[in-house]
Amino acid sequence: MTVVKILVVDDEKKIREFFSDALRSKDFEVETAKNGEVAIKMIDQNFYDVALIDLNMPKIDGMFVMKYLTENAPDSIGIILTGYATIKNAVEAMKLGAFDYLAKPVKMEEVLLIINRALEFRNLKRENLALKNQLKKKYQFENFVGDSPEMSKVFRIIEKVADTNSTILILGESGTGKELVAKALHYHSMRRDKSIIPVNCGAIPEDLLESELFGHEKGAFTNAIRTRIGRFELANGGTIFLDEIGEMSPHLQVKLLRILQEHEFERLGGTKTIKCDTRILAATNKDLDKLVQDGKFREDLYYRLKVIPIEIPPLRERRSDIPLLVHHFLEVISQSKGKEVYGISKEVVNTLTEYDWPGNVRELENIIERMVILSESSTLTLQDLPDKIMKRWPEDNTTDQLIPDTGISLNNSINEYERLLIVRALEKADWVKNRAAKLLNMNRTTLVEKIKKQGIQKPAELDG
Ligand SMILES: Nc1ncnc2c1ncn2[C@@H]1O[C@H](COP(=O)(O)OP(=O)(O)OP(=O)(O)O)[C@@H](O)[C@H]1O
Ligand SMILES: [Mg+2]
Repeated sequence: MTVVKILVVDDEKKIREFFSDALRSKDFEVETAKNGEVAIKMIDQNFYDVALIDLNMPKIDGMFVMKYLTENAPDSIGIILTGYATIKNAVEAMKLGAFDYLAKPVKMEEVLLIINRALEFRNLKRENLALKNQLKKKYQFENFVGDSPEMSKVFRIIEKVADTNSTILILGESGTGKELVAKALHYHSMRRDKSIIPVNCGAIPEDLLESELFGHEKGAFTNAIRTRIGRFELANGGTIFLDEIGEMSPHLQVKLLRILQEHEFERLGGTKTIKCDTRILAATNKDLDKLVQDGKFREDLYYRLKVIPIEIPPLRERRSDIPLLVHHFLEVISQSKGKEVYGISKEVVNTLTEYDWPGNVRELENIIERMVILSESSTLTLQDLPDKIMKRWPEDNTTDQLIPDTGISLNNSINEYERLLIVRALEKADWVKNRAAKLLNMNRTTLVEKIKKQGIQKPAELDG
């Protein structure tokens, strides 16, 4: 069983100690915060199952902490404690999402009772949610999440074109979810009861690929000891997914074009023309326009394929999907690995949202899996992040001001900041590079390189 973690927020030391001792003796893990500011920081950095929050505290009061908890750690349970119980306060606290409201002096049995009831309630809520999600998944795009405008557009196109026989070209960087789109298209079409057969055109050598796709007759080549059905035939009535179509050889491109136009082909070494009703979905992370220009991909085939293109933007261009994906993978992975890791601190989510994800969703999925496996507690915190993603925040917690909900580009921001500091140093040094380099603690050559790269120029009025 995982330990239940409780945060006690009270400005009175005596009360913090009283709760710590009593709750620890009941095997709860307890941490304390001596005021609202500290509590908020702790809520950002950790996950608490329950927070006992004193209402009357100087500066940031309990109502504010309660509101913060509801908004930023919706899975935590807040219980309000106060010496000045009034109906008005009770109503307000409950409105802010408090589970219950206790008047001081409280009896320990009463607190324990409420904590247990709250935990039971949360478990029920979780089970309910899991059931609801299961239902939803059945009818929506299974395990395919995203609510950015970009992904919503992709989902809308999928819904529109899934149940047609049109050929669809799926475009996107590696790891953006092209295969998921192909599956969603198939499972939302009338062909869903038949198979979707994937073929990775980049992973199979050309001669093998030909017989994989079209099959062969007995004796077609040295090792063809019996007739073999190709994947186009296997997928008859269903869908074939031609992945990495950009890698297909010119010879096979011609054969594919014929299937697209005539819906027919011959097996290797065969003379009989075979008709097939196979829907074709294709995907690539290559720039097909360029391959066409370079004469590596047939233009007529390209136009046939791209009648309906679906373009999946890279993850860094739809950062608002990241928190959703993080929670999705956390749930799926912790379940499949049998590890009870269900909390993640807001800071971790923020840091993940800022990272540029060159490997897109696949990279994000891998990182979460690694964090879940290595984590030693039920919550992922900054320490669990791999170094390449980790970025230290300044001591004062200005994260929220710096990062809008839509996210930022970390690289662009660092660049901008670098540029700003170099210009400031140059100004301070009257544009004498040697002196500016000293101010920045770097050698002159590096500075000159950076000035060139950043395109920094001395303002004209200072020249001469
Ligand atoms: N929107 C999404 N929601 C949930 N999981 C996703 C999403 N997008 C991608 N994934 C997951 O990320 C991983 C990579 O996705 P997928 O294999 O579809 O990418 P791809 O574009 O085909 O990559 P490649 O070009 O490398 O073949 C898969 O495990 C997939 O389930
Ligand atoms: Mg793929």
